[in-house]
Amino acid sequence: MKIIVMGASGHGQVVADVLFQMWTKGREMEIVGFLDDDVALTGTKVMGLNVLGRLADLPAMPHDCVILGIGDNAVRARLFAELSCAGKRFATAIHPSAVLAPDVVVSTGAVLCAGVVINTGGRVRENAILNTCASLDHHSVLEPHSHVAPGAHLAGNVTVGEGALVGIGSCVVPGVQIGAWSVVGAGAAVTRDVPERTTVGGVPARQLA
Ligand SMILES: CC(C)(COP(=O)(O)OP(=O)(O)OC[C@H]1O[C@@H](n2cnc3c(N)ncnc32)[C@H](O)[C@@H]1OP(=O)(O)O)[C@@H](O)C(=O)NCCC(=O)NCCS
Repeated sequence: MKIIVMGASGHGQVVADVLFQMWTKGREMEIVGFLDDDVALTGTKVMGLNVLGRLADLPAMPHDCVILGIGDNAVRARLFAELSCAGKRFATAIHPSAVLAPDVVVSTGAVLCAGVVINTGGRVRENAILNTCASLDHHSVLEPHSHVAPGAHLAGNVTVGEGALVGIGSCVVPGVQIGAWSVVGAGAAVTRDVPERTTVGGVPARQLA
């Protein structure tokens, strides 16, 4: 299976490394290279992989599927929609060190980084990211295009809405719903539901002006 990583910056490289670690554990795949809209990167190598061109050059590149290596949730969501409409297939990247209960469901295009733990009943929907050493406890859900940053810990029955970002090192108490496209600031302790498109931070988390 030939995979192209869309985006060669920091998150794209993390995604490429997850794929590489899967390959070292015997998963059959060929990481063809990156596409990135920074034209200065075209023709260079990143992590030993070729940067083949811009995102729009995808149709000219040999590939079976793509994966989005772009951290910005809104941009990643837009590209996921555009590429889905174009009939593209998405790879799913699960680092070999991730620990998943047997009934966990991980949807297409999702990325689970090194050290992730997901307990029973967990759901990671399309194009969502569970970043390095983050955890999702029982029956919690990451809705499409959301991102739980490194070291964040979600208790049981938590829902992270579509496109929401749960910042690095934060924690969320059981049963909380984080609204679509909201942001939880770094280091927050979220004890109550967060409305849509709202930024919260602090311990306990409050809306930031
Ligand atoms: C919360 C956050 C989004 C705010 O960013 P911002 O809109 O640029 O806000 P500013 O840095 O201008 O700060 C605005 C105010 O919020 C405060 N603030 C910023 N981040 C905060 C946080 N994590 N917790 C509590 N307060 C915070 C600032 O001190 C400032 O307060 P002041 O007006 O009294 O001085 C950002 O700081 C953050 O925590 N992002 C998470 C990033 C992350 O984890 N990314 C994942 C990478 S893999």
